[in-house]
Amino acid sequence: MNKIAEIFQSLDYGPAPESPEPALAWLASYNNKFGHFIAGKWTKPGKTFASDNPATNKPLAEITDGSKADVDKAVKAARAAFPAWSTLSGYERGKYLYALARLVQKHSRLFSVLESLDNGKPIRESRDIDIPLVARHFYHHAGWAQHLEREFPGMVPYGVCGQIIPWNFPLLMLAWKIAPALAAGNTVVLKPAEFTSLTALLFAEICEKAKLPPGVVNIITGMGDTGAALVNHPDVDKIAFTGSTEVGKIIRAATAGTGKGLSLELGGKSPYIVFDDADIDSAIEGLVDAIWFNQGQVCCAGSRLLVQESIEERFLVKLKHRMLTLRVGDPLDKAVDIGALVAPVQVARVKDLVKKGVAEGGQLYEPDVDIPKGGCFLKPALITHVAPSNTVASEEIFGPVLVEMSFRTPEEAVALANNTKYGLAATIWSENINLALDIAPKLKAGVVWINGTNNFDAAVGFGGYKESGFGREGGKEGMASYLKPKWEKDLKPVSTPAKSTKAPHPEVRPQGASKDEGSESIDQTAKMYIGGKQARPDSGYSRSIHAPDGTIIGEVGDGNRKDIRNAVEAARAALGWSTTAAHSRAQILYFLGENLEYRSEEFARRIREQTGESLASAQKEVAASVERLFAFAGWADKYDGAVHNPPSRTIAIAMVEAIGVMAILAPPSRPLLGSIALLAPAIAMGNPVVLVPSEKSPLSVTDLYQVIETSDVPAGVINIVTGTSAALAKTLAEHDGVDAIWFAGDAATSAAIENASTGNLKQTWTSRGLYYDLADKQKFEGDYFLRRATQVKNVWVPYGA
Ligand code: NAI
Repeated sequence: MNKIAEIFQSLDYGPAPESPEPALAWLASYNNKFGHFIAGKWTKPGKTFASDNPATNKPLAEITDGSKADVDKAVKAARAAFPAWSTLSGYERGKYLYALARLVQKHSRLFSVLESLDNGKPIRESRDIDIPLVARHFYHHAGWAQHLEREFPGMVPYGVCGQIIPWNFPLLMLAWKIAPALAAGNTVVLKPAEFTSLTALLFAEICEKAKLPPGVVNIITGMGDTGAALVNHPDVDKIAFTGSTEVGKIIRAATAGTGKGLSLELGGKSPYIVFDDADIDSAIEGLVDAIWFNQGQVCCAGSRLLVQESIEERFLVKLKHRMLTLRVGDPLDKAVDIGALVAPVQVARVKDLVKKGVAEGGQLYEPDVDIPKGGCFLKPALITHVAPSNTVASEEIFGPVLVEMSFRTPEEAVALANNTKYGLAATIWSENINLALDIAPKLKAGVVWINGTNNFDAAVGFGGYKESGFGREGGKEGMASYLKPKWEKDLKPVSTPAKSTKAPHPEVRPQGASKDEGSESIDQTAKMYIGGKQARPDSGYSRSIHAPDGTIIGEVGDGNRKDIRNAVEAARAALGWSTTAAHSRAQILYFLGENLEYRSEEFARRIREQTGESLASAQKEVAASVERLFAFAGWADKYDGAVHNPPSRTIAIAMVEAIGVMAILAPPSRPLLGSIALLAPAIAMGNPVVLVPSEKSPLSVTDLYQVIETSDVPAGVINIVTGTSAALAKTLAEHDGVDAIWFAGDAATSAAIENASTGNLKQTWTSRGLYYDLADKQKFEGDYFLRRATQVKNVWVPYGA
């Protein structure tokens, strides 16, 4: 047979190599040695390390390992550039972003080749996915810059943003970070990952070409220590990080108490659910994209395959067959599906996890395909016979390894899918639109793809639930995370009132053992309220509550760890509140307000008793509390999502969802409104709450249980635990059953809460000893707390026959 006839028989691909020459020439133009890009200038290379080509393990260039002094210089440059950049008109900033988009497009092939050389990803992906998405991001955000004032009235940029990115999508992650930050008027210091700094350096050159004002974008290279120096720099206003959950937690702890803004986009173990009515061939093609795209080094990779039992066998046969046709090879070959992993250390990490998976009982399948000798290449792999408790089913492998399990019912699929500490993405395959749209809201993940996978677009937010992090990138949500209310920058510390000698702190003693037996006002200890019932404190201790003149006006339980545990359990049991129709939630909030109003005189007297203020002022506080409940009743069915139109035959439904169980620790002042102002937005948005009222004046909230009981609030939606705020705050912040925590109080407790929240990466809002005037309707009756009480899930739904 002649050669052509043979090729017709075998249908083998020939090599289709892309030349590395232009990228190598670009590197050579810098003598293959790079400094940082600070204040619009290149610094001299300092102490350097090698950046290798993972396909050959040969060095491509020498990169400077940034020191603390380098970081400081870059932050200073960004600070110096901030005033002019942030006050430039949105139109002018937009033009710079537009210029960056155009220049990325103009040099797209150079960027693609350099990215593939540096990272090992197939050129097909860098050329057709990464770089076009980079340009799209800058275009999209050029528009946001111009419409900022209209769309985000009263919002201002943070200032200097420190941005730290990983190696899996080097330039794309840069674009996700820099485009919204610049559009909002921030200046940035960005540190690329040590394995993949080259396209960020080429981007610096693009910034020069776009004549971006010096210091607006600074690129500083280095290892983890350089990143840490950026995180810890006192003059950085916000940190945006993408990378491992482990480092994300370190950064959360490092920023605790600093007031720095923080967004974290971390790891995942995303489920890929195939129902028995799925178009199996399409689902398998989707799976190839889900787990072998970028060698599986994708935070949202569909790495946990969940197949309905009735089609499992057939599906796996087809999948294995498809795996045989995957081509592993030179990343610069345009006909290659799987390139090189990023570095030898990553290959070792993946191999290690696979070994563990097999040792724990998994069955490994690797197709009989050729892989190049030398370089960081691995065969695609599938592990079956895996139990949910196995390491490979729970840990992020970040390599070309798929783990498979089966399920019988949709309920089981949801339970398995959510059985992870992560919550970044999920995929559903089913031809039944009713089933798919029923499952999507039940999945705890920031992105859900129906009959598709790994779709991304600048107009559609991306980001995680749970330990996959918080904050969104892309879309309006992404813009919001680079802005803050202007007034928040001008907050002053709470002025601590001169210590009254008459009013002692609440004191603790065994229940019933009243010190002042003669006092008529103490007839009983106000109970806590847990799971719809009054509850005595586990400790058996109570705290006496004093009027400003020192007389004892009541007692409340001294809550402890066990009371918190019971309250969190009750709140978790009430998570169905989030799926209660928004209309019903609104009705219940209105009812709460109405019932509180009926008893306003009694509540006003109680406020006056605790604070010593005039009756008129106490009445005003009750009226404001009723109004606040009405305000959020009004929001319950209005603060909702959007439908995006990404440039593909897909719609992305941005659903606004509750976060989960929220812990709320009310401020010391305003005994009633302080609690209601925080409680109302949380429950309006569907979050069950554990509420700790003001430590000094808790009686207005303990009185509230009767109002709650008469207002049809389901059991467990509002739980009240009294006691010492700082101690209860710490317990709540450490509790893995709490998904978000808000604290209005002193700076030290705020820092302790943020520190303790790292365990499950709960979302936090703390007032850090600053005075937030919660009575201010303009500031607090709308978006401010609503946004913090919700998270956006984007559900991608394809259309067309
Ligand atoms: P990493 O999280 O250590 O690195 C990401 C970035 O953070 C890099 O720029 C690094 O220099 C920087 N960094 C490291 N330590 C830091 C610190 N203490 N303070 C500030 N910045 C710091 O990720 P790594 O080690 O490269 O990969 C380890 C594993 O992490 C992977 O196997 C994978 O499982 C996961 N990973 C997940 C990513 C995701 O997007 N979800 C991305 C990269 C890695």
